Amino acid sequence: MCGIVGYSGRRPAAPLLFAGLQKLEYRGYDSAGIALLAPDGIHLEKNAGRDGVMALEVLGGKIDRLPAAAIAGIGHTRWATHGRPTDINAHPHLDASGEFAVVHNGIIENYLPLRERLRAAGYVFRSETDSEVAAHLLASHYSGDLAAALRGVLAEIEGSFALVVMSARHPGQLAAARRNAPLIVGAGAEGEFFIASDIPAVLKETRDIYVLEDGEMVVVADGSVSFTDFAGNPRLKTITKVTWDAVAAEKAGYEHFMLKEIDEQPQALRDTLSGRAAKAGTIDLGIGADFFAGVSRVAFVGCGTAYHAGLVGRELLERWARLPAETAVASEFRYRQPLLDEHTLVVAVSQSGETADTLAALREAKKEGARVLAVTNVVGSTAAREADETLFTWAGPEIAVASTKAYTTQLEIMALLAMFLAKERGQLPAERVAALLEEMRTLPAKIEDILARRERLRELALPLSRTADAFFIGRGLDWAVALEGALKLKEISYIHAEAYAAGELKHGALALVTEETPVIVLATQQALYEKTLSNVEEVKARNGRVLAVVRPDNKELAAAADDTFLLPQISDELAPIAAIVPLQLIAYYTAVRRGNHVDKPRNLAKTVTTE
Ligand code: AGP
Repeated sequence: MCGIVGYSGRRPAAPLLFAGLQKLEYRGYDSAGIALLAPDGIHLEKNAGRDGVMALEVLGGKIDRLPAAAIAGIGHTRWATHGRPTDINAHPHLDASGEFAVVHNGIIENYLPLRERLRAAGYVFRSETDSEVAAHLLASHYSGDLAAALRGVLAEIEGSFALVVMSARHPGQLAAARRNAPLIVGAGAEGEFFIASDIPAVLKETRDIYVLEDGEMVVVADGSVSFTDFAGNPRLKTITKVTWDAVAAEKAGYEHFMLKEIDEQPQALRDTLSGRAAKAGTIDLGIGADFFAGVSRVAFVGCGTAYHAGLVGRELLERWARLPAETAVASEFRYRQPLLDEHTLVVAVSQSGETADTLAALREAKKEGARVLAVTNVVGSTAAREADETLFTWAGPEIAVASTKAYTTQLEIMALLAMFLAKERGQLPAERVAALLEEMRTLPAKIEDILARRERLRELALPLSRTADAFFIGRGLDWAVALEGALKLKEISYIHAEAYAAGELKHGALALVTEETPVIVLATQQALYEKTLSNVEEVKARNGRVLAVVRPDNKELAAAADDTFLLPQISDELAPIAAIVPLQLIAYYTAVRRGNHVDKPRNLAKTVTTE
């Protein structure tokens, strides 16, 4: 997620904008910029980080080049999605005349056709970003009224956006709009207004804010503020008094980043799917089919959660594309002299794109002549730079050590990749792909339904907070989810949680099952339902306590379990994307109840850059 700050008032804008951007640093970013409205036009300074110096620090060294008297402007910290972290790709973006400037947070899904149309009309683009389209589009719609021009832009762009725009022709005026990306307006001392993507950016100046809702616009100028919908109809809004302190505000009022990021999953899934699943059931990975031509085997490599995502990827690839595949822990793969050649595709999965073992596995694969595809959440990361191709998750910065939204968006990428290859290999008919894509579009809402039942999950977590051991079991894709659920619980609650293929229980682990041992059973795979039901009965016969995560039609299993959590109806192959969410929340509530530092659990780091 990018950070946005706008100011219009009576004081010099540059220091206020810069201070606001600094308050948004925690969100993670790779470049930064400020544009000011001065009597002689728009002045712009922007840059990526360089030589290990953070972008804001670099920008701070250039602030004095901006007109100190300017009393309006916009600023931005960029978390790259489309286009590498470079000076040119940094925001704000100007149109060719330099008379219009925009900052954007989100993803403009239809930027490619819009860019082609504007280019054909003679507009010259400088950057690789989707956001720059908004600057030229604004200029193309302008005919004397900035708000009307912005409305013209909003009528054409698709996807998620928080946009703030300004024009040299309207000194002191800012216009902004939002859809599926946050935007607030801070009401400062009389006549001052701030527009920002997040409360921390304005908290030092004001606690009086207006919260913009999806489909709303705001115009600030000359000490006044007005709200409308995208059609220009007035909207009456009231001020909310912010009572949070600065630390709470960074988490948007959440107690922990982890819970905030669990809740961000529906939007992260929408963003990660956007632009990749056209309505007609086609999949656009942004990678030509020729990259995959002649691939006869696939190896997924990763660590921790990323490894677990690879387990799902492997299963979907074999099931849909009938391609032989394996999943390996990167720290093992890199040393076992893997048999690789030009017909092998190695998929390196890594949220950070910086995990030492995963990078080593990626380099080993390249040395052996394999094709390497990275799946990562960080544009410009080492994995993205060294892989032959990259598929980005667009989950936004993930700050909690325990990975949540990165994992579910990795699963979404796994499903898209498997479907794409299955279609290329003639293994999945177009109508099946279309149906799966249609179901993928429903997943955010289904996950919102799960999130809305968090109190039930808080209750279900209660017995866990008193246990020393816990088992997670499942079959097939449920086993992969069980592994991730066990990792979530162990890494933040410090409970010894283990995951087992359900069929393995009787080969040893059952000896540990007592009435004190909670066993969490994943039962989403209809094809394996009867077998999983018998595993539940095995556990119950030893007086184990069973919590089952089940589908609505699994009535016998629900009856056999001590506790159940009902998932929405989802097909077997896409079930893992939703089934992990209750386990994330159970782990979260257990860790909170045990008084642990949820976001920074003991002994762990967010990115393991050492071996
Ligand atoms: C997951 O919750 C853990 N934080 C950890 O296992 C993590 O997934 C692993 O270190 C891999 O990190 P990466 O995805 O950034 O490579």
